[in-house]
Amino acid sequence: MPIAFLKLFIAADGLCSRRWIIARCCQFPLPSPMRCPTPLFHVRTSEIHGVGLFAALPLQANTRLGAYEGRRMSPAEVEATDWESHLTYLFGLSDGTVIDGAQGGNALRHLNHSCSPNCEAVEAWALDGTLRLDIITLGDVRAGEELCLDYALTIDTTHAPAAYPCACSSVECRGTMAASA
Ligand SMILES: C[S@@+](CC[C@H](N)C(=O)[O-])C[C@H]1O[C@@H](n2cnc3c(N)ncnc32)[C@H](O)[C@@H]1O
Ligand SMILES: [Zn+2]
Repeated sequence: MPIAFLKLFIAADGLCSRRWIIARCCQFPLPSPMRCPTPLFHVRTSEIHGVGLFAALPLQANTRLGAYEGRRMSPAEVEATDWESHLTYLFGLSDGTVIDGAQGGNALRHLNHSCSPNCEAVEAWALDGTLRLDIITLGDVRAGEELCLDYALTIDTTHAPAAYPCACSSVECRGTMAASA
């Protein structure tokens, strides 16, 4: 019986066959007990900065890694907060709200920036009417590859892009995490 159980989940290529279930539940969010327990990524030390996310297995293009979670803040709340001394995990949405991944966020808050990103953040309306931020792979990703977004930071005129230096080491690195002009 234990062998039959294993065969259910380990495919011939040695990878967990449940990864296909992940792809299904990515498109149709299911209650958590039905989610595949196989992790798509790990959090570990990154050469770019601090810790980052790394693919735990080969990922196909358009794989949903999950929703960027955290406390929802109004633009006024963000404005009233002193962020200078903090490592920030803020993600702005098109409805003007901001998600602070540092408060109640998930592992996706550790996504580092790359000027040649292999992931993107896509807005989607959740069933409860709130705007959700899904993290999706842009192309096929090798196991062990760091998963990154292009932060394309919007900065005010009092700061130069050079104030946000980039350490992604990509050949296309523009030298800054700020959006290109
Ligand atoms: C949301 S955190 C990313 C996760 C972070 N590495 C950690 O350890 O939790 C965002 C911060 O990471 C740093 N960071 C991310 N990508 C970077 C990059 N390409 N170059 C330099 N710093 C980066 C910056 O300090 C940025 O403000
Ligand atoms: Zn860069």
